[in-house]
Amino acid sequence: MAFTYFFRDRQPLERAVDYLLPSIISSSHVQIWSAGSAMGPEPYTIAILLRERLGHHQFRNIRILATDIDISNNFGKTIVAGRYSTSDLQRLPPDMYERYFIPDPDAPEYSIISSEMRAAVEFHRHDLLTYDPIATGVKLIVCKNVLLHFTDEERVRVLTMFYHALSDDGVLLHEHTQKMPPELEGMFEQVFTDAQVFKKKKVGQ
Ligand SMILES: C[S@@+](CC[C@H](N)C(=O)[O-])C[C@H]1O[C@@H](n2cnc3c(N)ncnc32)[C@H](O)[C@@H]1O
Repeated sequence: MAFTYFFRDRQPLERAVDYLLPSIISSSHVQIWSAGSAMGPEPYTIAILLRERLGHHQFRNIRILATDIDISNNFGKTIVAGRYSTSDLQRLPPDMYERYFIPDPDAPEYSIISSEMRAAVEFHRHDLLTYDPIATGVKLIVCKNVLLHFTDEERVRVLTMFYHALSDDGVLLHEHTQKMPPELEGMFEQVFTDAQVFKKKKVGQ
């Protein structure tokens, strides 16, 4: 089972979201890619953080692509249902639980995320090592705790794919232990010293 939980790495996620907020607000169609999403806590955390910052109307412009190789063949079903064990939601601030979850009426030990969140997140089974992006023009790619399983060469190829998938003002977020390979310095520029948030460099910059 892939290890993940709601609100994991909240601080860097918030920094990436806040950095992009002016660009998100001025866009009518925003694509976000949670690459290696496991069973959904990461893409739903991104959805909650964005919904907290955007009104209902603006939030409807957000489409979060949750992808995973999903060897369990179960992640998609969990994400579509948006149903999680209530004990797995302990890290959520209580007010966020109140706003975004209801106990499952048929099994109170489970909770279901709101239909507004479910409408924003869609799951696709996808292997990053095909080096084929799920979309282009992506505003934010979050890929945390995935690349550490790949070889140096695979990592460079996946990051190069992310570069091509990002919009010109797009941003990539890693986990804090993941460094950008030196050969990709011409493609990405770190935005914050305390978070692995990288903006896409323009050609010739
Ligand atoms: C430790 S989980 C990380 C989940 C989430 N990103 C987080 O940080 O909480 C790693 C995920 O990467 C996925 N993964 C591993 N290899 C992959 C590949 N080649 N393509 C897509 N996903 C992959 C695994 O299936 C697993 O769900």
